[in-house]
Amino acid sequence: MSRLNGKVALVTGGASGLGAADARLLAEQGARVIVTDIDSEQGEAVAAQIPGALFLAHDVADEAQWISVLEEVRQRFGRLDVLVNNAGFVSFSTVEEQSLEQFRRHLQVMTEGTFLGCKHAIALMKERGGSIINISSVAALKGIAEVFAYTAAKGAIAAMGRSIAVHCQNQGYPIRCNTILPGAHDTPMTVKALSELAGADTDALTQLHEVGQGRPEDVGNLVVFLASDESRQINGAQLVIDNGETIK
Ligand SMILES: NC(=O)c1ccc[n+]([C@@H]2O[C@H](COP(=O)([O-])OP(=O)(O)OC[C@H]3O[C@@H](n4cnc5c(N)ncnc54)[C@H](O)[C@@H]3O)[C@@H](O)[C@H]2O)c1
Repeated sequence: MSRLNGKVALVTGGASGLGAADARLLAEQGARVIVTDIDSEQGEAVAAQIPGALFLAHDVADEAQWISVLEEVRQRFGRLDVLVNNAGFVSFSTVEEQSLEQFRRHLQVMTEGTFLGCKHAIALMKERGGSIINISSVAALKGIAEVFAYTAAKGAIAAMGRSIAVHCQNQGYPIRCNTILPGAHDTPMTVKALSELAGADTDALTQLHEVGQGRPEDVGNLVVFLASDESRQINGAQLVIDNGETIK
C-alpha cells in the first residue's frame, strides 16, 4: 500500500481502458492521482471511484491546456512525481489510403501530446525528481500495414523517450523517462478496433478472441513499478508487454 506514498501522479486518457487501470492502481499504492481526458463524463466517473482522485478536462494535443492543467497541479499539490502519457486512439489506413488530415491528427494527439506533456512536466519535476512513463505500442516495432499513422505516432514516442531520458541525465535532473510498448490488451479501443477489422480479416477475428489475455491491470502493474523508486535504475528503456507475441 505504500510503494507510492507521497507521490502525485497524472494520467492522461485516464477515463478509459489502460489509463483508468493505471490511475486506480497508482492510487492503490498511495499516490494522489489526477485523471485527465477529453471525455469529461467518463473521466469524472473514473475519478469518483478512486479515493482522493481529481479529474481535469484536458485535450493533450493543446499546449495551452497542458500549461493550465500543470499549473493547477502545481497550485493544488505543489509537485508532480509521475506523468503517464497514455491518451491515444487508433484508426485504420495503409500508407496509400492515409489522408494527411488523419495522419496529422494521430501525430497531434499521440506524438505532440506526449512531447508537450514531457516538456512542461519536466519544469515541475526537475528539482524534486520524477518518473515519466510514455505509452507507445508494439506497432512501433512491427510492420502493421493497416495502422500506418498510428505506427508513425507510436514509433516517434519510443524514440522521443530515449532523447528525453538522456537530456534529463545531461542536465542533472533526477527524472527518468521510460516507454511501455503494449501488445493487445482488453480495452474499449482494442475491442472496437479489432471488431472493425474483423469484417475483412480473419486473423483479426482470432486476435479479438485472444485479446482478453492482456488485461489493463497488466500494463497498470508495470506503470506502478516504473512510477516507484523500485525502478530507479530503469531509464530510457523500452519495455514490451505482450506475452511474447512480438518475438514470434
Ligand atoms: N489497448 C491496447 O491493446 C493497447 C495496445 C498498445 C498501445 N495502447 C495505447 O494505450 C493507450 C490507451 O489505450 P486504451 O486501449 O486504453 O484506449 P481507450 O480508448 O480505452 O482509452 C483512451 C483514452 O484516451 C482519451 N483520449 C483520446 N484522445 C485524447 C486527447 N486528444 N486528449 C486527451 N484524452 C484523449 C480517450 O477519451 C480515452 O478515454 C493509447 O495510447 C493506446 O494507443 C493500447
